[in-house]
This record gives sequence, structure tokens and C-alpha cells, in this order.
Amino acid sequence: MFEQLKEQPADKILMLIQMYREDNRTNKIDLGVGVYKDATGLTPIMRAVKEAEQRWWGEETTKAYTGLAGDPAFGDAMVGLVLGDAVSRDQVAAVATPGGTGAVRQAFELIQMANPAARIFVSNPTWPNHLSIMKHLGIEAVPYRYFDETTCAVDFAGMMEDLGDVKAGDVVLLHGCCHNPTGANLNMTEWQAVIELMNARGVIPMIDIAYQGFGDGLNEDAAATRAVVSECPEVLIAASCSKNFGIYRERTGLLMAVSHDKAGHKVTQGNLAYLNRQNYSFPPDHGARLVTMVLNDAELRADWQAELEDVRQGMLGLREQLATELQRVSGSDRFGFVAQHRGMFSRLGLAPEIVEKLRVEHGIYMVGDSRINIAGLNSETVPILANAIVSAGG
Ligand code: LMR
Repeated sequence: MFEQLKEQPADKILMLIQMYREDNRTNKIDLGVGVYKDATGLTPIMRAVKEAEQRWWGEETTKAYTGLAGDPAFGDAMVGLVLGDAVSRDQVAAVATPGGTGAVRQAFELIQMANPAARIFVSNPTWPNHLSIMKHLGIEAVPYRYFDETTCAVDFAGMMEDLGDVKAGDVVLLHGCCHNPTGANLNMTEWQAVIELMNARGVIPMIDIAYQGFGDGLNEDAAATRAVVSECPEVLIAASCSKNFGIYRERTGLLMAVSHDKAGHKVTQGNLAYLNRQNYSFPPDHGARLVTMVLNDAELRADWQAELEDVRQGMLGLREQLATELQRVSGSDRFGFVAQHRGMFSRLGLAPEIVEKLRVEHGIYMVGDSRINIAGLNSETVPILANAIVSAGG
């Protein structure tokens, strides 16, 4: 049987991790996978998470299953964090999932169960795994223009024109904040126009929010998602705790299905639990437990927010420094967008040959589409990157 299997294409982001590991140069720079790193290159365990873990080690009395939807307290805490008071809790069906990717996968499956004919409109570009999971499930992905390669800003006119092709029952996948891979985001006026179009055409928004707190702040980064849930009748939201709680390997995420029709809520909740059961039965608990403890304890929460804010400010500082340095070395303003972008990533608009040259000649690793992880830099490597980009012809 196994001889029938075909080679699968390598994931472009994960491939870079391996290539970087195998590079013996001591001055190599990793700007690939979206994992936060401090100035010394480490991915720290956040203080509040460590404290919660220590407490939980003492308090935990059983490893028996939780529930198919995970611990309801996790759902409550996360609905509060992401949606604030934009909707009431009884309008939200929610299940814990293994990471944000688990939530994305379950959302796609729910869409397929509810409407097998639904197409999903995705930004061009989007996180490559969105497309890969859709292909795996046999869901039709329809790209909409999003990024202007020349200005490295959002091509909003192109986006709205392409979204004009939606049909009732289609889904539009949007990044709640900190667009991955570009770093270019819609402003609130643009979000409002997208909301109006979606409502006028009867399409379902699906929001992937994986970097809340990495852009303009916890509430600011959730503002668009909150506007969508308060104005659209039905919304799917895949939230990740990997980045903002730094618990990547604990696989902690939440899928929310918001409906203004409370009658359907119980059925939706049942379908989400059913999907969990079919795919992995009970979702993992450890990371979800830590997140719940941090969010529900005033002291831990304040400390977590303070540390997250330091992380955010650190990345903003690196953005400013890189934009300034690129301006100095290139003698032009063409990289000014780096300071305007938000989140962990910026797509620099470099040709694939230049990305290749940076890796081969300078030991600088970025995704082939010229996406860089800002957190992979520090104040000493910023000038090295700027010089290398310009000398490589970028
Ligand atoms: C990324 O985009 O680098 C992250 O979301 C990690 C991943 O799984 O691709």
C-alpha cells in the first residue's frame, strides 16, 4: 500500500528551519519561521506562563479527559480576550483545538459540512498552509488581490474588485491583524467597506487571528474582528495562543462560530464538538489551562500583558531601525513601508534571486517570497541585513 504514496511538496516555511540548521556559518541570520525570538535569539517562556505552570504542577489532581470542546473556562477566557463585549457569550459556539492551525482546519471542515459548494476567498498572498489544507480537503480557494508588490501596501481597490465575485454562501478568509506573510493591514475604514460588501452579498467571514497583541496592542489588534462579529450575522474565528502566550509546542487554539441566531447555537456547538471527536477526540489541555490561569488571575494577566507589550515594542523598534537603516544604505525611501507594516512579518518585495543570494552569500534566511520575521533581528543584525539587501541588488 505505501508504495502508492506520492511525495508531498515540502512546506516552504518549515523547509527553511532545516536548511538553517544545516548551515555551519556562525554569522547566519534566521528570519524564517514565525517564532518570536528575543535579542539573544531565544524564544523565552513568558514569566506568567511559567508561574502558572508551576502553580498548576502543584494543583493538578487528575489527567482524566476534559470535554470534547475543552475546558469551558478556556473558551470563556479566550472569547473575552478576542471578542471583548462585541457579542454576548451565548452567541458564540467555541471549541478548543490543537493550535490555531487546528482551529483553521476545523473551520474549513465545518464550512464543508454546512455548504459543500462554498468557495473560500483568500488573500493573495496568504499563509501557505491555508491553501495547503484547503487543497487537502478539496475546497476551492479563490484568490483575491491584497498586496501591491510595488508599494508593499494593501491593494485595497484590487481587493474590493476581486471580492465583487463572491456569491451568497461563499466564505471570505481575512487575517484579523498582522497579516501573514505581508505585514500590510487594512485600516478600520477599509474593514468597514469589506463588512458592508460581505453583508450585502450574503457571504460568511472567517477570521484567522494568530498574532493578537503583536501589532498595535491587544484590543487594537482585535478591533476589526470585533467589528465583524458585531455587524455580520455569522462569523468563524480561528484564534491561536502560540504567539501571544509563547506556547507554540503546547498546541493551543480556539475555534469560535458566532451567530446572531441564538436558536442555532446549540446545533453549531454540537457540530464543533463532533468535529473534534472525529479528528482527535479531546483537544489538548495543558496550554489551554495555562492560558486560562493567566487570563483569570489579575496579577498573572497584568504581568503577561506587560511582557507582551515589551515584545511588541521591541518589534516596533526593530521595524523603525530597519526602515531607517535601509533608507540610509539605499539612499531612498522605498523601504519606508517596513515601519508601517505591523506584526511579526514584513514582505520586502525582493525578487526570488535576491532572496537566494542573501541566503547563499550572506547566510540570511527568509521565506522565498521575501517575508522576514522581524523578531529574528536584533539591533546588531539590522544594519547587516540592510547592507546585504542593498548589496544584493534589492
Ligand atoms: C509562520 O507563518 O511562520 C508560522 O505561522 C509558523 C507556521 O506554522 O507556518
